[in-house]
Amino acid sequence: MSHIDHTKLEPIEKASLDELQSLQLNRMQWSLQHAYDNVAHYRKKFDEQGIHPSNLKSLSDLGRFPLTAKQDLRENYPFGLFAVPMDEVVRVHASSGTTGKPTVVGYTKNDIDMWADVCARSMRGAGARKSDKVHNAYGYGLFTGGLGAHYGAERLGATVIPMSGGMTERQVQLIQDFEPDIIMSTPSYMLNLADEFERQGIDPKESSLRVGLFGAEPWTDAMRKEIESRLGIDAIDIYGLSEVIGPGVACECLETKDGPHIWEDHFYPEIVDPQSGEVMPDGEYGELVFTSLSKEALPIIRYRTRDLTRLLPGTARSMRRMDKITGRSDDMMIIRGVNVFPTQIEEEILKLEECSPHYQIELYTDKQMDRMRVLVEVAPQHNQLSDEERVSIAAKLSHNVKSYIGVTANIELRDVGGVARSEGKAVRIVDKRSR
Ligand code: DLL
Repeated sequence: MSHIDHTKLEPIEKASLDELQSLQLNRMQWSLQHAYDNVAHYRKKFDEQGIHPSNLKSLSDLGRFPLTAKQDLRENYPFGLFAVPMDEVVRVHASSGTTGKPTVVGYTKNDIDMWADVCARSMRGAGARKSDKVHNAYGYGLFTGGLGAHYGAERLGATVIPMSGGMTERQVQLIQDFEPDIIMSTPSYMLNLADEFERQGIDPKESSLRVGLFGAEPWTDAMRKEIESRLGIDAIDIYGLSEVIGPGVACECLETKDGPHIWEDHFYPEIVDPQSGEVMPDGEYGELVFTSLSKEALPIIRYRTRDLTRLLPGTARSMRRMDKITGRSDDMMIIRGVNVFPTQIEEEILKLEECSPHYQIELYTDKQMDRMRVLVEVAPQHNQLSDEERVSIAAKLSHNVKSYIGVTANIELRDVGGVARSEGKAVRIVDKRSR
């Protein structure tokens, strides 16, 4: 397997805006044509909208093409959006989704190669080197996290420890024995691992770990601080989604930690108004949309991620950054007219040192009203709190949630281990409302 140079940037990472945009325009024209020629769904949608790939003269013309939604993948389940014959598809992945059929994605050999490159680039930006050992706790299997990160680490020339998720006790044991430098997992699972270190009487700060690449679920800067201080590592945000490729669509750089740089030479971002679908200027919050520029098996045109964020100018790299994801539009709870995301609750929880970031939000109906209950674990060093103290902490959190977010939340403070732990993507919302 070929490696990328772990010590220096690829030229495109430092390219001028002109160079980048001319590459993007070429690739975008190719990608639109490829989708049009080989995927009946895109051909039909473009034709209906009276637009043809040859109409794309500048990058902003992309806004004239139809948006694609998860529903379009579902309707073409399983392989209907593939643009190459099946014998060129060397792998499929699928994301489970909460309802109905999974979303299936496919890769040619070149796609797998490009994916390994962008993951390796992400890891290099996060400070990983060829000499590092990488503990990969993303789940292996249909989920893109495990194999995506795995190929990236190999492409970098690092040593991969393919742990996958789960068997938490054993993970800690092997971190102690193998002394990895880098860890890759969801942020919620990292905290679960940190607790397990402590349960075994080991200070997680004493581990060999230097950097963690965390993603696959929304997490706040408050959570970053919590992970960094408990583990004594740098916590880096890595972003991606199966429909676009998997992990490695965007990643933060170690030197700045100011939001993931989008690898725009392969994935072209736009922000649209979630209601109208209109393109919004950089800097404004809306829904992130991606167009693949080089993908063969599953070209994806203007895919609505449902992730809410904004685009920011480049810093450590010339390519643009995305702000931390506030949430997914699907995770937006509407409690008596107020829009709330789990990340907002997370921020309030983490302001109180007596609370741990293990939390879950339950929605239920009471007298035909939507209500919210937040289950939070006390921080381990506060497990001995009296009932009275707990009542007062719960009241404080409830007060903060009301005054900063504007919703009434019932807070239930639980003992350590009292909230369901994640081994992958944390389940933040449990909806028990009657329909
Ligand atoms: O979660 C790919 C991935 C694996 C990314 C490992 C990073 C690390 P899906 O299962 O298709 O793919 O889920 C994609 O997860 O649309 C976001 O809502 C969410 N997500 C992924 N990364 C982040 C992140 C993988 N860094 C969905 N911050 C996306 C916030 C994230 N949300």
